Amino acid sequence: MVKTSTNLARNVLRTIQANPPPGLEVNGITSHNFGAYQRAFTPMVMQGAGHRNYASDHKETEYAFQMAASNIRYGPGVTAEVGYDFKNMRIDRVAVFTDKNLLNTPAVKTALQSLDKCGIKYDLYSDVCVEPKEPSVLDAIAWGRAKQPKAYLAIGGGSVMDTAKMANLYQCFPDAELLDFVNAPIGKAQPIDIDLKPLIAVPTTAGTGSETTGTAIFDLVSRKAKTGIANRALKPLLGIVDPLNSATMPEQVKAASGLDVLCHSLESYTAIPYQQRTPRPSNPNMRPAYQGSNPIADIFSLEGLRLAIEYLPRSCADPEDMEAHSNMLLGSTLAGVGFGNAGVHICHGLSYPISGMNTSYYHPDYHTDHPLVPHGISVAVTAPSVFKFTAPSDPERHLKAASLFGVDVSNVKRESAGEVLAEAIQEFMFTKLKHQPRGVSALGYKRSDISALVDGAVPQRRVLDLAPGIHGVEEAEVREALTSILEDAWEY
Ligand SMILES: NC(=O)c1ccc[n+]([C@@H]2O[C@H](COP(=O)([O-])OP(=O)(O)OC[C@H]3O[C@@H](n4cnc5c(N)ncnc54)[C@H](O)[C@@H]3O)[C@@H](O)[C@H]2O)c1
Ligand SMILES: [Zn+2]
Repeated sequence: MVKTSTNLARNVLRTIQANPPPGLEVNGITSHNFGAYQRAFTPMVMQGAGHRNYASDHKETEYAFQMAASNIRYGPGVTAEVGYDFKNMRIDRVAVFTDKNLLNTPAVKTALQSLDKCGIKYDLYSDVCVEPKEPSVLDAIAWGRAKQPKAYLAIGGGSVMDTAKMANLYQCFPDAELLDFVNAPIGKAQPIDIDLKPLIAVPTTAGTGSETTGTAIFDLVSRKAKTGIANRALKPLLGIVDPLNSATMPEQVKAASGLDVLCHSLESYTAIPYQQRTPRPSNPNMRPAYQGSNPIADIFSLEGLRLAIEYLPRSCADPEDMEAHSNMLLGSTLAGVGFGNAGVHICHGLSYPISGMNTSYYHPDYHTDHPLVPHGISVAVTAPSVFKFTAPSDPERHLKAASLFGVDVSNVKRESAGEVLAEAIQEFMFTKLKHQPRGVSALGYKRSDISALVDGAVPQRRVLDLAPGIHGVEEAEVREALTSILEDAWEY
């Protein structure tokens, strides 16, 4: 790492944060048990300079957070109710989105039977691609605009739910171009000032939490990176969360989508506190969905993390373990609410070029005709290194996370929090789960690709701005940090 005076100053600050002199509180934390909540309520002025973020002081920081509640119905067999939901809304014609793989699964069959039973007509779109790229999103949008459904029903993983969200959005804006609503700086991030058609989302992976969020992700091939649209208007009207649906996932789809849950929880819990985000919005409409960690999202993120740690290995190992599948699906929904209101940061920022630039890697159980790094894999592959990097900003939070992995942290020094959490994540990925790629190099990348991977991550400001240690710093330093994380994550 290049030694500049800023870096030196930052390293001193990080060391002080990790190991404060006696009597110095960091972020107002005085005890392990109450630290998280005290920190969230400690006014900025008391937190002092050099604590957790490195933002310049000249912009007004945020003072509020908003919990945008998600409407969720959970239970085994609850998919059979979906026809009644449309009937109750007096909607008689819907678009059903799914992918070809899922057409013969109980999830789709049960939902279609329910529509038939309630007299709801439907048009079926089953051409959703795994981890959709621009052409498949455009195809779905054209289909939606041609069919003009009164509502949408998405039955599938994140790929299906996200594609349905975008078809719905662009049906409601018939003249809009794809990039009009895509996150800045890649797209124009135009506001969405009308209600979209009702969307009911039925997840079949225990994964993305897309049934709870206003996010839709796709691969912008021309930029070789994933991007998306993040707006509360995209949030499904209802998520029907039915463990009978996710139980049919193949083992490695369970593992990859479950690692996404792990990272949603860890990243949202360790994101900068909402009070450190800038700028403070001048209109509440402009307050982003990804707000930074906050006391309500924390509750969801921590419980999502606990459930993923306890149940993901069991769910992957035993297709008959319904208790594990049920708790894993619940965990993915909880983590969705957590990150949907707090945001994610570096693992996700780096994941977009890691999956977008892949030209050779295929993953077991993903039957695609093109190379694919599944989203959860692309996210988790840097996780041990990312949390080593972010730990000095808030060692207590990182130790709390490590304790959920079963580590006895009572005698761990604050400056070791990152190492300890990184080891716990590695043990989870490589011992408790099977066949996980051990580092970025295992995905077919060469060291000479690092700078292009960094180039692909830097425009993901929406998520990187929530990362402790990256929030508010100059681009050159962001690059330096991402490069060192990728080098550290090269091979475990
Ligand atoms: N909107 C959000 O908030 C959000 C969050 C995270 C990720 N994502 C995006 O979601 C996508 C990944 O979604 P995913 O991980 O849910 O997987 P996916 O939707 O891509 O599905 C992966 C594969 O598993 C199959 N599958 C899914 N459920 C199955 C089941 N129950 N039985 C048998 N096969 C099944 C699918 O047919 C597909 O082949 C990525 O594009 C990612 O970027 C979105
Ligand atoms: Zn994710």
